[in-house]
Amino acid sequence: MAAAEAVADLKVEGDVAILTLNSPPVNALSQPVRAGILEGVRAAVANPAVKSVVLICEGRTFIAGADITEFGKPPREPGLKEAQDAIENSPKPVVAAIHGTALGGGLEVALCCHYRVAVPSAKCGLPEVNLGLLPGAGGTQRLPRIVGAAKALEMMTSGQHVGAAQCLEMGLVDEIVPEGELRAGAIALARRIVAENRPLKKVRESDEKMIAARGKPEIFAEFRKANARKFRGFLAPEYNIRCVEAAVNLPFDEGMKVERQLFMELMSGTQSAAQRYVFFAERQVWKIPDVPEDTPLVPVRKVGMIGAGTMGGGIAMNFANVGIPVTLVETRQDALDRGLSVIRRNYETTAKRGRLTMADVDKRMSLLTGSLSLESLADCDLIIEAVFENMALKKEVFAKLDKIAKPGAVLATNTSALDVNEIATAVSRPEAVVGMHFFSPANVMRLLEVVRGEKTSKSVLATAMQIGKKIGKIGAVSGVCPGFIGNRILRARSLQAQAMLNEGAMPWDIDKVLYDFGLPMGPFAMSDLAGLDIGWSRETSRGATVREVLCEMDRRGQKTGGGFYDYDEQRNARPSPVTEKIVREFAARAGNAPREISEQEILERCVYPMINEGARILEEKIALRASDIDIVWINGYGWPVYRGGPMFYGDTVGLAHVVERLNAYAPKLGPEFVLSPLLQRLAAEGKRLQDVK
Ligand code: 3HC
Ligand code: NAI
Repeated sequence: MAAAEAVADLKVEGDVAILTLNSPPVNALSQPVRAGILEGVRAAVANPAVKSVVLICEGRTFIAGADITEFGKPPREPGLKEAQDAIENSPKPVVAAIHGTALGGGLEVALCCHYRVAVPSAKCGLPEVNLGLLPGAGGTQRLPRIVGAAKALEMMTSGQHVGAAQCLEMGLVDEIVPEGELRAGAIALARRIVAENRPLKKVRESDEKMIAARGKPEIFAEFRKANARKFRGFLAPEYNIRCVEAAVNLPFDEGMKVERQLFMELMSGTQSAAQRYVFFAERQVWKIPDVPEDTPLVPVRKVGMIGAGTMGGGIAMNFANVGIPVTLVETRQDALDRGLSVIRRNYETTAKRGRLTMADVDKRMSLLTGSLSLESLADCDLIIEAVFENMALKKEVFAKLDKIAKPGAVLATNTSALDVNEIATAVSRPEAVVGMHFFSPANVMRLLEVVRGEKTSKSVLATAMQIGKKIGKIGAVSGVCPGFIGNRILRARSLQAQAMLNEGAMPWDIDKVLYDFGLPMGPFAMSDLAGLDIGWSRETSRGATVREVLCEMDRRGQKTGGGFYDYDEQRNARPSPVTEKIVREFAARAGNAPREISEQEILERCVYPMINEGARILEEKIALRASDIDIVWINGYGWPVYRGGPMFYGDTVGLAHVVERLNAYAPKLGPEFVLSPLLQRLAAEGKRLQDVK
C-alpha cells in the first residue's frame, strides 16, 4: 500500500484526524487515492484518541472526480463505494474541507461526509453529463435530497460548477470559512460538532425534499420540454433526468440500482467514449510538439483591429470582454460608425437579457477606439487584419502595417482561405505574421484556427494560442492550405452535396439527413443563412449551378425571403417548389434519371469524404493530430460532441468500411476527389486515425 501512503496522509492533532490527499494535478480518484481514503478513514475510526475526521486536499483543488484515464480499463480494488461507505458509516463525524472544485466523484465523496465546509472561491458540481455520463457514485440520489429535484436536474444536466455562496444557500455546504483558513476552519467545525453533540448527518436519510416532489411528474415533463433543443441527440441528459425521477419516487437503495444500471449503460456506449475523447482532445489541442511550454510570449496589452465589419467587430468584442483595449481602423467614417454601433447593439442586447449590466456595456465600449488611420496602431502588441477577402488588398494593408507596427508586434490575418505565406511576403518580418481565423459570429463561436505560416516564429505562434485562450476560445493549429482545416473539410462535403443535387436529390432531403445526424443544420440551410450571394456576382454568373440560378432570380437566402428554401415572415423554412423545379431541370440536363437517393447514401457521401479530407490534412501535416481536426469541427461547425468529431466518427464506424464505401461511390465523387493513401493504409492495417502520431 506504498502508493496509498504517498497520496494520502493521516495526521492526528489533538482529537481530530486530518486525512490529506495529495495526488496532482487534480486529486482524481485513482486507485491509490481510493485506497488512501479507505485506509485513512478506517485508521481514524480505529484510533480511540480520534473523535472526528477532516478530509482535505493539497494542491489546486479538492477531488475533481473519478480518474477518467481509468475508464474502460478493468476495475481495481477498492471501489469508490467502499471508500464512501467507510466515510458515511463512520461513527465519528467526517467533515469535507473544500477548495478549488469538488466535482463528480469528488462531490459524491463530499456528499458522504457528514458536514461540508468550503472557502468562498470553491465550486461544486456534477459535470459527468459533459462526459456523456451520469454521477455513478450516489450523486444522483444524494444531490436531489439536499437541493431538491428542480435544482438537481439543472446541475446534473448542465454540469455547471456552482459557487460556494450558492452552495451554502442550497445547503450543499454547511459553512464558509475565509480563504487560506480552510484547514483551521474545518478542524474548528469538527470540534464544534463533537462538543455540541451534533448528529451524524447522512444525506441518504433525508427525504423531505423527495417527498415534496413525489407525485409531481410535471416537474420532469416540463424540464424535458424546456430543454429539448439543447439535449437533442444526447443520451446522458435524459439518463440523468431518469435518475432524479428515481430519487424522487424510490427508496434510496432502489434509486442507487437505477443509477448503477444507467451509468453502466452510458459508460459502455459510444456517446460517452466520444465525449471522454473530446475532454482529452480539448486539452491536447493546446500542445504544440516543437514549441516548448516556456516559449517567450509577446505580452498583449493593446490590440489593433483593421476592418470593423462583420468579423472585425466581433473579434474586437472578445478583447474588450477581457479588459484589453482595441483600436479599430476603417477607411471611412461611416463604416467605422456602423461597426461601433453594431458592437454597442450587441452588448445592449446581452444587457437586455440580463447577462451584462449597462455599466459593463459602457466599460467595454470605452475600451474600443475608432480611427481612420493605420498609424494609430503603432503602439499595438497584436494587430488583426479583417478587411475584404482579397489578396492584393491584404498585401497592401500588410505592407503599410510593416512600416507602422512596433518591433515585436504580432501581425495576424483573419483570412478564411487565402495563403498566409503569401500575405507574409508583403512584410519585412514574416516571422511576425500568423493567421488567426475566427468563426462567425466571432464574439460567440469558440473556435480559433491559428494558422502557422512557413516563417511564423514559435513565439508568435505561442502568443496567438495563448491570447486565444485568454479570450475564451479553443485554439487549434493549422498549417497553410486552401481553407485551412475547417473550410477545407467543409468544401469536401459541399462538393458532394452539390453533386447529389445534380443527381436529383432535394436540398431539404440532404439537410434533413445531416440535421438528424446531429449537426445544427445542413449545407443548404447554412447557405441560405449566410447568403447565397457570398462570392457571387451578376456579371460573372452563368447559370451553371442551382445556386447561380437562384441568385440570378434574386433568391439570395433568408435575407431575401427565399433561397434554396422559401421563408415566411418569422424566417421559418419550407421546401420551395421553385428550387425543386430548378433541381429537376439540372438533373435532367445532366442526363440523370430522377432517383430517390437513400438517407444512407446521403449520409455516407457527405460524411465519408470529410473523413477522407481529414486524413489528407493529417498526412500533409496541416493538422498536428486527428483530435485537433475534431476540435475544429465540433467548435466551428457544430459537429455533435457525442459523435466525437469526423475523425473519431471514422474510427467508430471503422476505416475499412469508410474506404470500402468511398470506393463504391467512386464514379460519383467527382474529379476533385482523391482517396487518401493514409486512410487506405490505416484501413488495411486495421488502425485508427486517432492513433496517428
Ligand atoms: N481524471 C483524470 N485526469 C484529469 C481529470 C480527471 N477527472 N480532471 C482533470 N484531469 C487532468 C487533465 O487531463 C489535465 O491533464 P494534462 O495536464 O496532462 O493535460 C490536468 O488534469 C489538468 O486539467 P485542466 O487542464 O483541465 O486544469 P484546469 O485547472 O483548467 O481545470 C478542472 C481543472 C476544473 C478540475 C478540470 O480539469 C475538469 O473539469 N476536470 C474534469 C472534472 C470531471 O469531469 N469530473 C467528473 C469525472 S467523472 C466521475 O467523477 C464519475 C463519477 O460519478 C463516478
Ligand atoms: P466585411 O465586409 O463585413 O468587413 C470588412 C471591413 O473591412 C469593411 O467594413 C471594410 O470597410 C473594411 N475595410 C476594407 N478595406 C479596408 C482597409 N484598407 N482598411 C481598413 N478597413 C478596411 O467582411 P467580413 O465578413 O468581416 O470579412 C473580413 C475578413 O474575415 C475576410 O478576410 C473574410 O474572409 C474573413 N472571414 C469572414 C468570415 C465570415 O463569416 N464573414 C469568417 C471568417 C473569416
